[in-house]
Amino acid sequence: MLLFILAAVIPTPAPLPSLLTAAPAQRSFPPLATTPPPAEPSALDAAAVVSTRRWISEVVIRLGLCPYASDAFHSEGKVRYTVSHAGDKAQLIDDFFTEGLLLLHEAPEEVVTTMLVAPLYEEGIEEFYSLYEWLVDTLEDEGETMLDNQIQPAFFHPNWTFSGIEPESPLHFEKRAPYPVINLLRRSQLDEVVKRGLKRGVVINQQIAEHNAAVLEQEGFARLKECFRRLQEAG
Ligand SMILES: *[C@@H]1O[C@H](CO)[C@@H](O)[C@H](O)[C@H]1NC(C)=O
Repeated sequence: MLLFILAAVIPTPAPLPSLLTAAPAQRSFPPLATTPPPAEPSALDAAAVVSTRRWISEVVIRLGLCPYASDAFHSEGKVRYTVSHAGDKAQLIDDFFTEGLLLLHEAPEEVVTTMLVAPLYEEGIEEFYSLYEWLVDTLEDEGETMLDNQIQPAFFHPNWTFSGIEPESPLHFEKRAPYPVINLLRRSQLDEVVKRGLKRGVVINQQIAEHNAAVLEQEGFARLKECFRRLQEAG
């Protein structure tokens, strides 16, 4: 996996006709274009998005793990997929705030939620947990005025492991994704779902937790592990 990532970020030479290798007679041709072509997303970016989309469809939607964004996941285009090239926490936090501001700038009907995929984040799961704790605390702090507590992040990582649960439990897959991902959700939307639940006499977070545990248990560790192996291979 690591080798693949390293190989994928080494830029391949652009297939432009080279003046140096062209026959001498052709060297006097004027350059074809004066503006550089737009930067193309790298193979890794594309693979990370493909894997993340497949995970959304084959795991999150199929098992109904995230009712908050389920409508958005069903309508193509309402989910923004962004690849962060962050290798560490500081860069990932920067990209998170940038994406948070972008999301709040968009109309909620247009872009419902953002999946910030970080295929190059390589600090490991312990650092990812501490990033999670720091970010959740920071966003809820009154002094944080940039996003003004309007964005709720959800964290996913291929190595996410809940403490106090046996290592081969399917429950860990509730927080696993093929690549590290921060899902940015609008707090207004979450509040709406919670309010609708309460009207039906349902505590939504508890209902989600029970539902997710039940479907993951039913799916089983072996099948989820195999599914993730395929998803990571696709990327
Ligand atoms: C997950 O753990 C494996 C095994 O320790 C490691 O090789 C891999 O790099 C980790 N993945 C991430 C994204 O940190």
